[in-house]
Amino acid sequence: MASLTIRKLDDNVKTYLRLRSAKNRRSVEEEVRVILRELIEGREEPLTPFAVPPAASTAPTPQRTGAPPEASVTLIIGGGIAAYKSLDLIRRLKERRVEVRCVLTKAAQQFVTPLAVSALSHERVYTDLFDPQSEFDAGHIRLARDCDLVVVAPATADLMAKMANGHADDLASAILLATNRKVLLAPAMNPLMWNNAATRRNLAQLQRDGVALIGPNSGEMAEAGEAGIGRMSEAIEIANAAERLLRPPVPRPLAGKRVLITAGPTHEPIDPVRYIANRSSGKQGFAIAAAAQAAGAEVILVSGPVDLDDPQGVTVKHVESARQMLEQVQAALPADIAIFAAAVADWRVANEGDQKLKKTSAGMPPLQLVENPDILATISKLTDKRPPLVIGFAAETEHLIDNAKSKLARKGCDWIVANDVSPATGVMGGDRNTVHLISRKDGEIAVDSWPVMTKEQVAIELVAHIARSATEKPLEPAS
Ligand code: CTP
Repeated sequence: MASLTIRKLDDNVKTYLRLRSAKNRRSVEEEVRVILRELIEGREEPLTPFAVPPAASTAPTPQRTGAPPEASVTLIIGGGIAAYKSLDLIRRLKERRVEVRCVLTKAAQQFVTPLAVSALSHERVYTDLFDPQSEFDAGHIRLARDCDLVVVAPATADLMAKMANGHADDLASAILLATNRKVLLAPAMNPLMWNNAATRRNLAQLQRDGVALIGPNSGEMAEAGEAGIGRMSEAIEIANAAERLLRPPVPRPLAGKRVLITAGPTHEPIDPVRYIANRSSGKQGFAIAAAAQAAGAEVILVSGPVDLDDPQGVTVKHVESARQMLEQVQAALPADIAIFAAAVADWRVANEGDQKLKKTSAGMPPLQLVENPDILATISKLTDKRPPLVIGFAAETEHLIDNAKSKLARKGCDWIVANDVSPATGVMGGDRNTVHLISRKDGEIAVDSWPVMTKEQVAIELVAHIARSATEKPLEPAS
């Protein structure tokens, strides 16, 4: 009688045997004897969770693209000639960093093989509702829910009918009934089937149920001489539709608006090595610039010396002194919205030394201070290029609201963001801010007090206010 050498067996079989014997606490040889006995007695042990899944044994090793997937799709491939396009769809989705788990209906397997689908998706393929391995490993409930979107391509007339009527007699229809995810259908069928009253009814029902649709397109059918509506959309069209559902466009309420922002302190030179400055970190102004940019605005940030990275997508003009800041602000006009978050030094040294001031027996050098230009007031009072919405900040250490209200009137801006910068608050240089938005409403001055927030949250809230006010009372375009 021939003897069997385990070593010479196929790798997958060896792995299966090793795992199965470990699970059953038998030697590999014993396990082989048990399997043979069971086979002869006609009771085969079902595949266990340890078993090598049949499709995985034929699937290539997952491709490492470097970038992790950002979303996942369960792709149900229905039985139609268009199923060949679904192979390309898998590739297109993967290009978009979407992980794809495929389910093939029985009919689909007449057009594409599980091996081809598995090779492209780098995943095992699911075909059977009653596959013990798949029910343990993922199961139709997990296939239905452990994804961000279910795509059916091709969606045959039969699959659509099953879906519209809530059938669940195979894996594909069970997933479609069990899913709580958005479903995208890419129908493909003969034009007569597409136009049939039953398909029209099913389609109307599916649309009422919130199912998304891509196609079908019109064109020639696989059947010779037939043309009309019923061709499945191209793979790239389906992938784009899936991407729109997976990554809905971020709202960009400030798209088309130009926003000018000042931030940080200014440095006013005393001599080539010394300057007058303040404790502003620039964090609040930078956060506003980032939030406005994220909201779709074109942002120009004029910043004094800070220790922060330039926000992405923002044009940053770096300056030192108040006069340079004013110059850059004027050069950046026109703008739709101007936000003055900089802590501009009120004074500069009139007699700035060309050389380093030296200690002399005559005592302290007399420093004469002169007032800096008020950038906010200058821009608010412009007659020609005044931005339609001008927002100032009021950094106060006492009488916060009263001082801010009088600043609003004195500077001529539209809104003031008032914040208490007393050392105890930790606002200057810190990450949090407590602000009050002071604005004019129907001839009255309104005060809206916000809870303590991070500077990023304050920025997002301010940008949301700006976007809402632009909707209520459209800003005149910058000219
Ligand atoms: N501001 C400005 N130019 C200046 C001074 C201030 O653009 N030379 C702006 C600030 O960017 C802020 C607002 O005016 O938006 C108020 O700044 P703040 O420092 O609070 O007030 P000051 O005007 O400096 O008045 P005071 O120091 O008396 O509070």
